[in-house]
Amino acid sequence: MSVQTPKRSLTLRDLQEMRGRDEPIAGLTAYDATQARLVDESGADFVLVGDSLGMVVLGHDTTIPVTLEDMIHHTRAVSRGVGRALLMADMPFMSYTGVDQAVHTAARLMQEGGARMVKLEGDAQQVDVVQALAGHGIPVCAHLGLRPQSVHKLGGYRVQGRGEAAAERMLSDALALQGAGADLLLLECVPAPLAGRIRAQSDIPVIGIGAGSDCDGQVLVYHDILGITPHSPRFSRNFLAGAGSIQAALAAYVAAVKGREFPAAEHAFSA
Ligand code: KIV
Repeated sequence: MSVQTPKRSLTLRDLQEMRGRDEPIAGLTAYDATQARLVDESGADFVLVGDSLGMVVLGHDTTIPVTLEDMIHHTRAVSRGVGRALLMADMPFMSYTGVDQAVHTAARLMQEGGARMVKLEGDAQQVDVVQALAGHGIPVCAHLGLRPQSVHKLGGYRVQGRGEAAAERMLSDALALQGAGADLLLLECVPAPLAGRIRAQSDIPVIGIGAGSDCDGQVLVYHDILGITPHSPRFSRNFLAGAGSIQAALAAYVAAVKGREFPAAEHAFSA
């Protein structure tokens, strides 16, 4: 009788080593156990329970109404489906306004939800929060560029970091967050040359979504790559078209990231 060894979950260290080997990291969002299982089986390296949950699952216009209870509920469901991939969960709007609240939020996402890393949207203003989380041994991904929780302040979902001053600011924010203890950087809707500069000057994996190919990895929203969102963003691709099944579409996405076929020039933004 053969005994199957359970697949080991990837750790932050594995992602760091992938960066070191120049091996592209593939991530996808998931919001329930079945999606998590399918994403995991596709070979994705990490699964993000994004607060895009609010838009693609709960039917809100923005991510702002998403609560911590929503995130814990869905993270727990995803944790039941995930095996090998590293599980990351978003800290929702207004759940990390200060150090104590942020530590409490992250603790709940990890203890009740089963997350192994938390993600927060921020700039240099979040340095204290990131430092506190890191000091408590909590892996952190800092999300820069287009920060959907700030959509009303940003005046819409638009590319960030265009122009030299804005680019310099984002680069210095990224380095400040890394210095505070962030373990990953996620860049959303950032001109490709700026993402490349941030990657070149940082030591931690840089994951892009609408940030071009010069990143250590990519992440996309599950519903976007299946072409089932009403308006798919320009930086995504419908991997279901022609694939024949959801499983084949997810595998095609992972293979395209690993093979550096995705993102192509048409998915990137110029400076
Ligand atoms: O909430 C989300 O889905 C995100 C994306 C950037 C992947 O944060």
